[in-house]
Amino acid sequence: MRGGATAWLAAVVLGAFPAAAAPDWPVYNGDPQGTHYSPLIQINRGNVAKLKVAWSFDAGGAGPASELEANPIVVNGTMYVLGPTLEVIALDAASGAVKWRFDPHEGAAVRSKQRSRGVTFWSDGHEARIFANVGQYIYGLDARSGRPALEFGKAGRVDMREGLDRDPAELSISNPSPGIVYKGLLIEGGSGQAPGHIRAYDARTGAIRWTFHTIPRPGEAGYETWPPDAWKRVNGANAWAGLALDPAHGIVFASTGSAGAGDRDFYGADRLGDNLFANSILALDAATGRRIWHFQTVRHDIWDRDLPAPPTLVTLRRDGKSVAALVQITKTGVVYVLDRLTGKSLFPLEERSVATSDIPGEQAAIRQPMPLSPAPFARQRLTEAELTQRTPQAHDAVLARFRNLRSTGQFTPGSREGTVLFPGFDGGGEYGGTSYDPQTHLAYINANDVAYILQLKENAPETAALSRRGLYLRECSSCHGADLKGNPPQFPSLVDLKDRMGVYDVTRLLLYGGGRMPSFRNLGSELMTALARYVVQNSDEALPRPEDLKPDPDLGRRFTINGYQRFLDPDGYPAVAPPWGTLSALNLDTGEYTWRIPFGDYPELAAKGLEGIGTENYGGSVVTAGGLLFIGATIFDNRFRAFDKRTGKLLWQTTLDASAIATPATYMVGGRQFVVVAVGGGKNDKVPTAAKYVAFALPASHRKAGDR
Ligand code: HEC
Repeated sequence: MRGGATAWLAAVVLGAFPAAAAPDWPVYNGDPQGTHYSPLIQINRGNVAKLKVAWSFDAGGAGPASELEANPIVVNGTMYVLGPTLEVIALDAASGAVKWRFDPHEGAAVRSKQRSRGVTFWSDGHEARIFANVGQYIYGLDARSGRPALEFGKAGRVDMREGLDRDPAELSISNPSPGIVYKGLLIEGGSGQAPGHIRAYDARTGAIRWTFHTIPRPGEAGYETWPPDAWKRVNGANAWAGLALDPAHGIVFASTGSAGAGDRDFYGADRLGDNLFANSILALDAATGRRIWHFQTVRHDIWDRDLPAPPTLVTLRRDGKSVAALVQITKTGVVYVLDRLTGKSLFPLEERSVATSDIPGEQAAIRQPMPLSPAPFARQRLTEAELTQRTPQAHDAVLARFRNLRSTGQFTPGSREGTVLFPGFDGGGEYGGTSYDPQTHLAYINANDVAYILQLKENAPETAALSRRGLYLRECSSCHGADLKGNPPQFPSLVDLKDRMGVYDVTRLLLYGGGRMPSFRNLGSELMTALARYVVQNSDEALPRPEDLKPDPDLGRRFTINGYQRFLDPDGYPAVAPPWGTLSALNLDTGEYTWRIPFGDYPELAAKGLEGIGTENYGGSVVTAGGLLFIGATIFDNRFRAFDKRTGKLLWQTTLDASAIATPATYMVGGRQFVVVAVGGGKNDKVPTAAKYVAFALPASHRKAGDR
């Protein structure tokens, strides 16, 4: 690492250096503020049509459920990316040549398939490190060699299960988003079956410097919004979506998920109350972890309305003055625009009265805070008029199902008959978040506009004691389905499991958890083995005796979700009328949308003339001073596109080997501007997967020397 470059980087991170000079993409989402913005102009509206592949790197290891979601970072000409099973890889950013590769699973039987959205760079001017989250560990690697920095944690890694004041063996934790650096601190959220406390680690030693309790303890603010002992037993309220930092004010911002993790997302009888600081935007003093303000977007979440992305820090104009603000998108499809220093909404809000729950033991919140402006970026309520008209058969089938569902708009609790969740579990907004253009004050939001069904089922205690099958139904069916078919690729099918895994492998997976699969250690080894036998051999023979089965003492498990069901027509297309995905530009000064387009196509429907209907899309955009908005995201057409950022006009597109469900990055090296994106596919088992990073640039004849 050259001293000059390091000093430059330190200046960027501390906010002392004007971001407009940055040729790199040194931080997840471009900068600590999470703007996804680049001042580069070599590639611009006039020449983007000439973009060509400059290089392509195949990380290897693409598989049926692999998803590459990482936003590459680029520091001083080196790019740091992740492979599909979380190998950390350094590339020459100009050529794509491998500089080093670190495999955290070297020699391990089970490879984590956790999603990961990127890594973190840190330097103190002498040393430089890359931090990568893999399973329960934060690895600290030497940025030059890729070797573990032995001084960090225990021989180069920190176990995130430690320091939470619970038995680490009972916890399962991982962080799909990279931490953020403030001065010498590495600040991290997390996800999994653990309390979602936000922690700052010493970037050099890995020692915990501060902890903010997202599930407050006695004497802490927000404690009264939970049952008294919740802090000892409830999991969740975690910031898995990443963090944003205002270096000038020394504030770190975290957006948290719901309380209760996994199948407890949907039944809150064991956590009655508003559940602060779940589903909240938190502003914390980055040096101490002290709470400055909080804004809760959903009270007592029973819909899995995790905040899916960190806020984007922006500056907007109000009454002729500049206001330091932030933009937060949500899965519900609304946007909160808050004063960054106070947490007050800059647009009017209402306390909306919402439907009550008819599930025994549940007490839904009676009011929820909803913005009256800006308008939602996804539809808010499914009515008969909004059902698909793709074919008469599709319409009739969907209408018949719809008439048996509860559909009364946002915050209608889950029910036995099924509640329409619209937008669905995957938003609305998703992990791609918002990009922000400081030149125009436009924020860009890509969104899904499809419905899911939230159906709850009761776990009768006696089913659990009946058979292994009963045990499976109680413990596993919420994700893998009563029929073992899951909802691939998010929740894999277990139908032909014996072709892939043995009883031992599955028992081990149940013991340790893996990727997004929680640990079931608390069941004890006998029951874990019984379950493993059941799913591998599909044998329901000799049961553990009923008295060996742990009675279900836990009210929180009485109702669980009956699978993550997309509301589809009989041909597998969304049950709602298009658009099924959109891309919008929101003017933050006025709260009005400047443009909105349907985003994405199904190639087979487009071939029949059904185009411009939008599809599900994941991963965010990048906006540039060159007047462009780059985005992949659409999961069926595998396109990577550049739009005119002011009008939404499509200026360039290319078709990739698989979809790019990740946020791109753009940077300059050797006088050449590149745009790079991860090409991984996934999110639907009908689409191809890959494990590539593809970089685009202009051919030499279209570049002017010194272009920025
Ligand atoms: C909260 C949701 C959830 C629950 C509950 C759950 N699983 Fe899983 N399971 C997953 C996910 C997600 C994966 C994929 C892991 C990954 O690749 O990240 C998975 C993977 C697996 C796999 C590996 C499949 C493969 O092809 O690699 C097995 C086996 C499995 N689960 C068994 C079980 C059993 C048995 C239970 C009940 C004791 C269970 N799961 C409960 C979410 C869940």
